[in-house]
Amino acid sequence: MSRDTDRAARFWDRLAERYALRPVPDEATYQRKLALTREILRPDMALLELGCGSGTTALHHAPHVASVLATDISPQMIAIARRKVAAQGATNVRCEVASLETLPDPDARFDVVLALNLLHLLPDWSEALRRIHALLRPGGAFVSSTMCVGDSALRYLRWIVPIGETLGLLPSLRVFTADELLAALRAAGFEIEHDWRPGPAKAVFLIARKAR
Ligand SMILES: C[S@@+](CC[C@H](N)C(=O)[O-])C[C@H]1O[C@@H](n2cnc3c(N)ncnc32)[C@H](O)[C@@H]1O
Repeated sequence: MSRDTDRAARFWDRLAERYALRPVPDEATYQRKLALTREILRPDMALLELGCGSGTTALHHAPHVASVLATDISPQMIAIARRKVAAQGATNVRCEVASLETLPDPDARFDVVLALNLLHLLPDWSEALRRIHALLRPGGAFVSSTMCVGDSALRYLRWIVPIGETLGLLPSLRVFTADELLAALRAAGFEIEHDWRPGPAKAVFLIARKAR
């Protein structure tokens, strides 16, 4: 892991137990994202989740696909995710400490890749989109939910985040607009299938498709 990733892992490790206990901030929006994702899932699919956190979403989708590989750079998040998987008896979910660069089997290909509340945390998010495209099988889908801090409603975060980051209270955040994200997805080879913006200061939910 790079030094940046290692620092981020320690940040999320510290937060993991509290993060796992916190209620979903906007339940209705979360449920709609789950439902939109569920519509593209099939029982024979392999799903990869990047930055899975404590595994809640992976467990929601597990009954609707063949296999789930839930990954995160934070060992504490993965420990919690494994506990939840065991408690739920979900035999098709594997949880691993990994980033996009350190996946357990780099040659594995997936039908669906999820990155929820993650892209804006990645040092090189547009390179990440190219890697995700390469990880997908032809016709596969990339599902993301991303804070676009470059958009006007969230611009104030640009000034707050560096202070919070220095104090160790916030993770480092990449600044881009929803339009920049869409352009980068297209440049990586995706077609945008679904673009849902639940509100001005809310994460942009996208389903992007790799050509068959
Ligand atoms: C805001 S949380 C989101 C967790 C979950 N996806 C959700 O929506 O609740 C961000 C997660 O991404 C993980 N993360 C941060 N940087 C990462 C990276 N470079 N690669 C993989 N995971 C990362 C953190 O450990 C954390 O669990």
